[in-house]
Amino acid sequence: MSCIAVIGAGYVGLTTAVCLAHLGHQVHCTDVVADRIATLRSGMTPNVEEGLGELLRQGLASGRLLFSTDNIEAVRNAEFTFLCVPTPQGDDGRADMSYIEQVATQIGPHLAPDSIVVNKSTVPVGSTRVVERVLQRSDISVVSNPEFLREGSAVHDFLHPDRIVIGADDEGTAMKVSGLFIRTSAPIIATDPATAETIKYASNAFLATKVSFANAIAALCEAAGADVRQVVRAMGYDPRIGSDFLRPGPGWGGSCFPKDTAALVRIAEDVGYDFGLLKGVITVNQEQRARVVAKAIRMAGGSVDGKVVALWGLTFKARTDDLRDSPALDIAQKLSAQGARVRAYDPTVRHSLDNIEICDDPYSACANAEVLIVATEWDELRWLDFAKVGEVMASRTIMDARNLLEPSMLYELGFMYEGIGLA
Ligand code: UDX
Ligand code: UDX
Repeated sequence: MSCIAVIGAGYVGLTTAVCLAHLGHQVHCTDVVADRIATLRSGMTPNVEEGLGELLRQGLASGRLLFSTDNIEAVRNAEFTFLCVPTPQGDDGRADMSYIEQVATQIGPHLAPDSIVVNKSTVPVGSTRVVERVLQRSDISVVSNPEFLREGSAVHDFLHPDRIVIGADDEGTAMKVSGLFIRTSAPIIATDPATAETIKYASNAFLATKVSFANAIAALCEAAGADVRQVVRAMGYDPRIGSDFLRPGPGWGGSCFPKDTAALVRIAEDVGYDFGLLKGVITVNQEQRARVVAKAIRMAGGSVDGKVVALWGLTFKARTDDLRDSPALDIAQKLSAQGARVRAYDPTVRHSLDNIEICDDPYSACANAEVLIVATEWDELRWLDFAKVGEVMASRTIMDARNLLEPSMLYELGFMYEGIGLA
């Protein structure tokens, strides 16, 4: 068992702290937002994440999991300090390292001798050196240990990782960090820091490439009269391609793909490589959101000015409450700019949002709507009473941006239906 500090209790930091405590370690997790710490101390999770609440309460009950706003106290006796503070996308697309540098400056003088700082945050290649410089401690090792957590399955992904990547300057340090995860029995990839940081960006950029490829093929299918669902299904049977991350949709969003693809283009540019392929992946993603908006406007008769548009789903994907860089919000803002009155339902969203009327149930969101857009693949939306949906809408028109619903059932109920990539 090791003594661990986790700085930052967000989507990544909280999962890291709770799961490391579950693996038997003594964990002290901090955050600058006192309310978030109070919520966690009460045994409640601030974000929707399957399985996290139970492990949080187990950790609190066992005494292996502490929460506070005191970074200095947390690191004082820690053998390992995980940095899980944001690395948001800067205006120029580069990752903003200011939070990490601020925290490193603060904790540098207080870290336990010979302890190890672990960069969990997705940071630009070379950031491990930046943290080393800021810490100004020759006895402290800084390693990169990128996270591969998907929101909605973060606990599973942490406890059953496909691989553990550790970027360290010496093997002894890498072995110490890999020992923390020994109970996950995952393959360990011990390499240098720059390679570890590149593995993270390359992995996310490739997944985003697969999704953008599926979206581009969907556009081709619409023009060629093919069915993208069957195209990607058949592609997926080839194990070299695989079926995951080939589902067409409104474009990818979230706190990772957009930030990490933009950062990787800049990282490449900074070392003299023009990453044209990845720029194309990003362009397709922006076009995809505009395609959904154009379809909805066409289906509403060529204009949505002064009309109600219903939107089901606001989060960037199902099984999370995360709205960060959600395509659904982008689509809502574009429709609002065209004069539409956007009424939205999402099972995890109750607070108000600019230019969007939040409804408590999916049916009231459809009241007098000229068109309904399905933007997030919440499973509950598939089992609704569509006869009732048709009765409350001004026009029985559905633009299904996730190919979530069953077209034949809707045609029988008199709906006009369009999906993504369907003939
Ligand atoms: C963040 C980064 O966005 C991601 O790239 C990295 O891999 C892990 O950290 P996430 O956990 O989703 O991912 O961010 P967020 O949910 O915003 O959580 C960050 C937390 O850190 C917030 O709760 C924030 O209050 C806290 N924080 C921020 C600190 O505790 N100290 C700071 O100085 C800044
Ligand atoms: C991603 C990576 O999967 C994870 O490994 C990394 O650690 C963090 O970034 P996450 O951002 O939670 O995880 O979401 P993910 O499940 O990857 O989906 C990203 C976006 O792609 C979402 O907007 C999702 O709706 C979209 N997507 C995904 C598709 O449109 N089609 C697909 O087939 C898969």
